Amino acid sequence: MRFDVLTLFPELIESHMSFSIMKRAVEDGIIEVHTVDPRDYTLDKHRKVDDTPYGGGAGMVLAPQPYVDCYEGVNKLDNSITIMMTPQGEPYNDKIANELAQYNQIIILCGHYEGFDERIREIIKPREISIGDYVLTGGELPALCLIDSVSRKIDGTLGKIESARDDSFSDGLLEYPQYTKPREYRGLKVPEVLLNGNHKLIEEFRMEQKIVRTKTKRPDLWEKWRGK
Ligand code: ADE
Repeated sequence: MRFDVLTLFPELIESHMSFSIMKRAVEDGIIEVHTVDPRDYTLDKHRKVDDTPYGGGAGMVLAPQPYVDCYEGVNKLDNSITIMMTPQGEPYNDKIANELAQYNQIIILCGHYEGFDERIREIIKPREISIGDYVLTGGELPALCLIDSVSRKIDGTLGKIESARDDSFSDGLLEYPQYTKPREYRGLKVPEVLLNGNHKLIEEFRMEQKIVRTKTKRPDLWEKWRGK
């Protein structure tokens, strides 16, 4: 899987990729993350990527020429998709992450300031994705949420594929509670059923817990799961 990220702040993307599981996935050749800066495609000597909005109003708008030229300079692989990170997009979730994990290449447009000139959308026609109903100062954090969550769906990124299989949301329910050593901490004991090695009982216990948790913490997910 190859990610190409159009961003005015490449270091934000690169820094996340230099730690922990993402770093290992890059070193193991499971994912590749490349950044391109639209500022490098500006035609004026001030390297200006934005301008004031026609019609007036506060803030700045990202101009079409640097973004479109930058996008057209990205080498497109077969089975590639282009995504724009924007609060106006469809709400991101685990189902979309699974869908995106099937592509060979994801090209991501990150905005900044007040937003994109509408012609960037009209020319590039990206799939628009939002990570939630709130507005961030830029698309880099949303892009990283997407890269991180899609990468963990790809075989080899996590130590064992089972660790993704049992994740919250993978079957529409939240994950069961986890415990490690010691058996007792501040008077709180690990549930007995987890200690006896009976895998059938453990599985039943975990399923019950998933249901209880989802019902109480995320009634919306519970209703959806029940209706399946
Ligand atoms: N850019 C700014 N806010 C965003 C959000 N909530 N989702 C995606 N991209 C964004």
